[in-house]
Amino acid sequence: MTALAQRPANPVVGESVVHESADLHVTGAALYTDDLAGRFTGLLHAWPVGSPHAHARVTGLRTEPALAVPGVVRVLTGADVPGVNDAGVKHDEPLFPTEVMFRGHAVCWVLADSLEAARLGAAAVEVDYEMLPALMTVEEAIAAERFQGARPVMTRGDAAAAMAGAAYVFSGETTMKGQEHFYLETHCSIALVDESGQVFVHASTQHPTETQDIVAHVLGRPAHEVTVQCLRMGGGFGGKEMQPHGFAAIAAIGATVTGRPVRLRLNRALDMTMSGKRHGYHASWQVGFAADGRFVALDATLTADGGWSLDLSEPVLARALCHIDNAYWIPDIVVHGRIAQTNKTSQTAFRGFGGPQGMIVIEDIIGRCAPLLGIDAAQVRERNFYSPGQQTPYGQEVRHADRMPRVWDQLMTSATVDRRTAEIAEFNASHRHTKKALAVTPVKFGISFNFTSYNQAGALVLVYKDGSVLINHGGTEMGQGPPTKMAPRAATARRVPLDLVRVAPTRTDKVPNTSATAASSGADLNGGAVKAACEQIRERLAEFAAKRFGEPVDAVRFEGGTVRAEGSAAPPMTWAELVDAAYYSRVQLSAMGFYRTEGLHWDPVTVHGVPFKYFVYAAAAAEVEVDGFTGASVTRRVDIVFDVGDSLSPMIDLGQIEGAFVQGAGWMTMEELVWDERPGQGQGRLLTSAASTYKLPSLSEMPAVLNVSLLEAATEDGVVYGSKAVGEPPLVLAIAVREAIRDAAAAFGETGASVDLGLPATPEATYWAIEAVRGGVLDGGVTTLRRPT
Ligand code: MTE
Ligand code: MOS
Repeated sequence: MTALAQRPANPVVGESVVHESADLHVTGAALYTDDLAGRFTGLLHAWPVGSPHAHARVTGLRTEPALAVPGVVRVLTGADVPGVNDAGVKHDEPLFPTEVMFRGHAVCWVLADSLEAARLGAAAVEVDYEMLPALMTVEEAIAAERFQGARPVMTRGDAAAAMAGAAYVFSGETTMKGQEHFYLETHCSIALVDESGQVFVHASTQHPTETQDIVAHVLGRPAHEVTVQCLRMGGGFGGKEMQPHGFAAIAAIGATVTGRPVRLRLNRALDMTMSGKRHGYHASWQVGFAADGRFVALDATLTADGGWSLDLSEPVLARALCHIDNAYWIPDIVVHGRIAQTNKTSQTAFRGFGGPQGMIVIEDIIGRCAPLLGIDAAQVRERNFYSPGQQTPYGQEVRHADRMPRVWDQLMTSATVDRRTAEIAEFNASHRHTKKALAVTPVKFGISFNFTSYNQAGALVLVYKDGSVLINHGGTEMGQGPPTKMAPRAATARRVPLDLVRVAPTRTDKVPNTSATAASSGADLNGGAVKAACEQIRERLAEFAAKRFGEPVDAVRFEGGTVRAEGSAAPPMTWAELVDAAYYSRVQLSAMGFYRTEGLHWDPVTVHGVPFKYFVYAAAAAEVEVDGFTGASVTRRVDIVFDVGDSLSPMIDLGQIEGAFVQGAGWMTMEELVWDERPGQGQGRLLTSAASTYKLPSLSEMPAVLNVSLLEAATEDGVVYGSKAVGEPPLVLAIAVREAIRDAAAAFGETGASVDLGLPATPEATYWAIEAVRGGVLDGGVTTLRRPT
């Protein structure tokens, strides 16, 4: 049975419902964690004592001077930890370190009556350091062989043997920098102890259960004594998947030792200095092509710049390995993965979770090798698409592989790529100092957590006697709209009007053992659990109604807030009447729902299995104009075709596609993290720790024209209501912008120039790429090891 057939008549899913909190957002009435601060009396504020060194041993710590500052109540140190002094899931992140691993690393925390007093107190704390050598770049760490965590290898066939038979063999390197999340709401936790000694933490976290786990182990208490609530986040983007735990633990320790509520909120500079970012990656590669541009073999090594601790670096690396193929069949392949340890913030999840890093490597290879093959890059891409029945290098069949060419063809037509390419060639021939280019790139993105266990979710659905419905689920709201997607699901599954349904904030004492809202799976997993709970209640009510109407259960019809029975002369009952009557007949009106994604398995050691429920397919065509004097580029027009299955909430999905695309374009063309790498006093300082120095895309960087269309007739069977995930994949469409900049830069040189372009492709990086081709460098930094003679 297809999902379409499972869909009831008159579903509420699929209607364009505006974001559940849209009114609250635009009026400023929406509450975020820090907005609760004013509700607590006796609130204490926390401020860190940050290391001034990138790497050092702490040899002395004197907190007394801080206590002399008026308003300072307490300085939290390692001695205050009743449980485990560690904030990481991997147990490699001492909460109070004796060896500081990056500049800004908190040695201890000052609690005071006011924020100002806490800051002054922190400045008064005296710390002695013994400086240690620091490694600031992934290249330095590779040279020093400083790695952490697993070193997975993904293999299929025999890449070396296949390479020996390839018409062309090239080698090169690809590097990309990281990215700051720049969620509008910075990290924040407020902790308090209630009258029974239980700890309650309000936290801006994508993973309330894991925040609860870490707080509990730091406090040395069972999990049932710690409750974490996340009202909503002002953005997370992966930056609040694992990073909030330590901050929540500090607030919780503070609350337990002082008995007063404690607020820990980072200001922007602290947040940027202390919290993890997207991983930069380094890749070295050797690739073999057939004469027609088809891949023959790939041998690559991906090195993640992990920062000081592991955090999520291993699963991020696994996803990078699983996406290096992007949409392409690479018959023989070996990819080595490893994680460098550097003296920077501990890099973490960021929209795409390593997928983009892997995909950029293969797209960079195509962008640089296509000119050396003498084949148009878009053709190389198209020729290499998976065919139905083929498998990824990690052994999963590429289900619905035919959708990639369908998406591609729809885009070629809707964006009139051929006509515009010809116009651009004419433009370039007549303009010496300005060049345009149009590039098209595909996306195939796997949906589900690689780690199979995380693909589960729970929900608690309550129906009250008046017919109103309260939904509790494990997903968190960070702007991507789970409540907006859950309520229609509940309404549809239960066949009640949408205005009777309310979605409660996420709390660990309502739904336990939840997964992070991540991997774009929040809607799939929690939606599945909500549906399961609603169906239980509906079944009970249907049975009850059947008895009332004296008809069989399958004659009962729930329709737009009323219930009737086919064949019965009795008038329909309203939903509220039915619920009220059911209550008095002692029918259970609440249910716990559970969902797990079936059919998944994954072996992280052999990098093999079926980690994904399905793939999302998309493609983008980006047109840019590049100025030859400055390297500055303008994105003139972008067209996107995206496969979301049957959209659950088209307005939300459109917003996700546009937002993710622009976020990706920011990373790939302008956002640049710069740390002071020179040994000495300033080493390790993040020089771009504010919006003034870290350039983010704003309205003026939006493409002048942005056309998004959804792939038609794209129902996905076997998923909840036939819809597919949309949170992360569109970010990777921004590769088209970078590839267009590359092609425009090439147009400043001889025909067929291969261009090595930085990531981010800032005006500066673009300028140097143009200078290289103008100066006659035409090999794009690629070494040709073999070519047909
Ligand atoms: N959209 C907004 N507005 N804010 C966010 O923080 N996070 C993204 C994406 N879209 C994010 C967002 C990331 S990293 C993920 S994994 C998904 O939302 C998570 O939500 P979902 O699983 O419900 O799509
Ligand atoms: Mo998203 S990076 O999986 O939180």
